Amino acid sequence: MITTKLKNHNCGELNLNNLNEEVTLSGWASTIRDLGGILFVELRDRTGFFQLVANPQINPQVHKVFEKLRSEYVICVKGKVTRRPEETYNEKYATGQVEMYPESVEILSEAKTLPFVLDDENVSEDVRLKYRYLDIRRESMLHNLTLRHKICQAARSYLNGEDFLEVETPILIKTTPEGARDYLVPSRVQEGKFYALPQSPQIFKQLLMVGGIERYYQIAKCFRDEDLRADRQPEFTQIDLEMSFVEQQDVIKCVEGLIVETFKAAGVEVKPPFIQMPWQEAMDRYGSDKPDTRFGLELFDIGDIILESNFEIVKNTLQNGGIVRGIRIPGGAKFSRKDIDDITKLAVSFGAKALANIIYNEDGTAKSPVLKFVTEDQAKRIQERAQAEAGDIIFFVADKPKLVYDIMGRLRLYFGKRLDLIDESKHNLLWVVDFPMFEWSDEEGRFMAMHHPFTSPCLEDLDKLDSGDLGNVKSVAYDIVYNGTELGGGSVRIHSSEVQKKIFKALGLTEEEAVEKFGFMVNALQYGTPPHAGLAIGLDRLVALLCRTESIRDVIAFPKNSGAKDLMSDAPGEASLQQLRELHLKSTVHKS
Ligand code: AMO
Ligand code: AMP
Repeated sequence: MITTKLKNHNCGELNLNNLNEEVTLSGWASTIRDLGGILFVELRDRTGFFQLVANPQINPQVHKVFEKLRSEYVICVKGKVTRRPEETYNEKYATGQVEMYPESVEILSEAKTLPFVLDDENVSEDVRLKYRYLDIRRESMLHNLTLRHKICQAARSYLNGEDFLEVETPILIKTTPEGARDYLVPSRVQEGKFYALPQSPQIFKQLLMVGGIERYYQIAKCFRDEDLRADRQPEFTQIDLEMSFVEQQDVIKCVEGLIVETFKAAGVEVKPPFIQMPWQEAMDRYGSDKPDTRFGLELFDIGDIILESNFEIVKNTLQNGGIVRGIRIPGGAKFSRKDIDDITKLAVSFGAKALANIIYNEDGTAKSPVLKFVTEDQAKRIQERAQAEAGDIIFFVADKPKLVYDIMGRLRLYFGKRLDLIDESKHNLLWVVDFPMFEWSDEEGRFMAMHHPFTSPCLEDLDKLDSGDLGNVKSVAYDIVYNGTELGGGSVRIHSSEVQKKIFKALGLTEEEAVEKFGFMVNALQYGTPPHAGLAIGLDRLVALLCRTESIRDVIAFPKNSGAKDLMSDAPGEASLQQLRELHLKSTVHKS
């Protein structure tokens, strides 16, 4: 430690080995107790607590200053480390066997009464965010930020060891292809023009590969103007990397090493290789492209049986491109009418038009309004397919595939939690691979890129691009999933400008539009592009999961709230008319 005039030791690191040493400590007076005229102060710094004692009989001047201390005053004390009387040893602290009767004390800064008590767990998050600088004094925030630091260092150290170069990419850029809404920054010098903030360094890291950097990484700030949730922030951080002369399996291997090292920094041991699950299998078994494999309740398909039955409404759906998936809930036959109504309402809130169920009574009979549409044999086959036993209930939904997967995937998670099936001690990591290249958007009435338009299609599927069979084109993209959360994603990139043109065309971009949007990128691909691939891990999510906290706000020093506001600085704020004028903007809010 670099010692200074105000501090040559850390509070939390003193113990019996330091007995009789003269030390200078600085920190916050966290608790102050007066026991029969003797004042006891817990001095706190980043490393922990250390007990100070001021006795008027021993040092009246020091005691006088101590009498002025209030909670959270910042002080500097000098004195000898002494042994506490044995009966007062405090097992709670590493320093619980030592203390100091300061020979001198200086108040470095006074503190107003804090708006909340630091270790009160019931303070609202809004208040904590408003006074974030105080919130950061809490042990849990310090712990989270420390772990974040360690994870970043572990990532850097691993990637440095694998010959990666850390390169910074710009923040004021043109546009990125990630597909969320951009944050725009108006240009003062170029009237009517805007920069975008990067949704990720995607284009630049690919250009670094064209530039011959071969292995790049960056702990990169990304900006996305999207609806926020507990695991999304408008500005967040990625461990972003890109490699040349590699294939999918090379990136996967490299990232598995990165995962091992970052998890190790958090004291968690994981062993690669992780399972690689095709996207279709993840959807079929779990209804999700980020399956939580810590519990079962896998989905099943009864489409073929229903197609033979008289269940016309569902048959219709199936004949029009729909699918049906079910879930078996062991012991669910005892759900009450109200339980089932509530579960149905939940499914409806997920977008279901209906949720069918079959109850398998303990006496071996089955009960369901849908049984009237099926023969006895079909009913038996449904039960077999579901692997349902007496006492179970099954639910199923038929609709367009995307909706069915989504509803059933969410229902599965709901039951996993409700039935307490999730083993929190597990660290399940898996890759989801073979993603579709395109996804149909009802809103836009066209196919959209499922990842981004620089993702390479599977080479075997190139002819499907030409024939327009876009729904069946797979991409060389992969996501890494941890306990049901998407930690990161990446892909092999297109390194041929011909293939790139085909993809733009498939996405409905004319050549002019593609050039206008990503022209420099398309150009660059024409000057000798190495085959390359990469991935980005959401650092905030990674740290939050390893800190075992639900919200990524808890691992970001100064986060925004769910309204994308910084409650502390009150950003976003208004701009003056003068500023707007300089930026050539007119405000609809300002009156004049
Ligand atoms: P993608 O968009 O999948 O890929 O992002 C990678 C990872 O970043 C995290 N993430 C977020 N974390 C917090 N708040 C957000 N708003 C947010 N959005 C994303 C997730 C996600 O898995 N350029 C590509 C990577 C590549 O292809 O190399 C990209 O950005 O954990
Ligand atoms: P959605 O598909 O929008 O319902 O989102 C499901 C999950 O996918 C989220 O909880 C995130 O983990 C991830 N996700 C969705 N949208 C994004 C995005 N824009 N960026 C990163 N991750 C996302």
